[in-house]
Amino acid sequence: MATKVWDGFIRGFHWLLVIGITVLYFSGEEGWLDVHFVTGYLLLALMVTRLIWGVIGSQTAKFSSLFHSPKAIISALRSAATHVGHNPAGAQMVLAFFVLISVQLVSGLFTTDDILVEGPLVAYVPYSWVELAGDIHQINIDILLIAIAAHISAIVIYRLKGKKLVKQLFTGKTAEPVTPAPLMRSGLLAYGIFVVLSAILLFTWGYEPLMALF
Ligand code: HEM
Ligand code: HEM
Repeated sequence: MATKVWDGFIRGFHWLLVIGITVLYFSGEEGWLDVHFVTGYLLLALMVTRLIWGVIGSQTAKFSSLFHSPKAIISALRSAATHVGHNPAGAQMVLAFFVLISVQLVSGLFTTDDILVEGPLVAYVPYSWVELAGDIHQINIDILLIAIAAHISAIVIYRLKGKKLVKQLFTGKTAEPVTPAPLMRSGLLAYGIFVVLSAILLFTWGYEPLMALF
């Protein structure tokens, strides 16, 4: 019997995140800023939901299962033992992603193209902050790309060692049973939170760019 380790929200979150970052990267580079803003607000809602899920979600989604001692991280890098959820080394990558993606999202809110379009918080802060946020938005994307390359390389290395992590992230289940099975919550609650936050952001900050798309 396989054991369920990823709830429906964590699985959906991951693949929506991949689509969202891809759209944001290309729309940012091409200057398609209406698409960029609408996708940015949806990703902001998704990321905030993931952070809330880190407190109230399934055991494998919780922050308490992402923070580990340096000793546990090093021993996870050395051993091939199976872990329930993210192993202590992989969890550091997850935390790094949460920080990098949050920095990218928040800096975007204070960024302007200096021509027509500005993030919704630009008007509330001095121009020197806006310049700084623009620099951060441009530099942090490169760090995020390096992290993504490292992440995909790690997944490939685990695959070469025989661990099918991608399949697990689609099905939510391990190939072998693991005990004790982690405490799981229904992802539906998280999707509910995501929809409410998306609606709030799209009808406030996102209204103009959304209408400009139609
Ligand atoms: C934009 C690109 C990507 C980003 C930002 C990203 C980010 C993340 C994050 C944040 C997690 C942790 C999930 C959570 O607990 O909430 C994760 C896990 C995972 N990602 Fe990605 N990912 C990306 C692309 C990919 C791709 C292309 C693959 C497959 C080839 C992949 C395979 C996985 C797997 C298998 C896990 C689970 C790892 C484990 O078992 O501990 N990711 N990713
Ligand atoms: C994870 C989410 C995001 C990613 C990956 C991302 C990525 C990018 C990229 C790659 C660029 C092009 C930078 C360059 O000119 O080299 C850009 C520009 C820009 N982004 Fe984002 N962005 C994100 C979120 C946001 C958000 C939430 C907002 C505001 C609501 C925003 C506002 C802007 C603006 C105004 C520009 C134009 C800057 C300029 O022309 O100099 N971004 N973004």
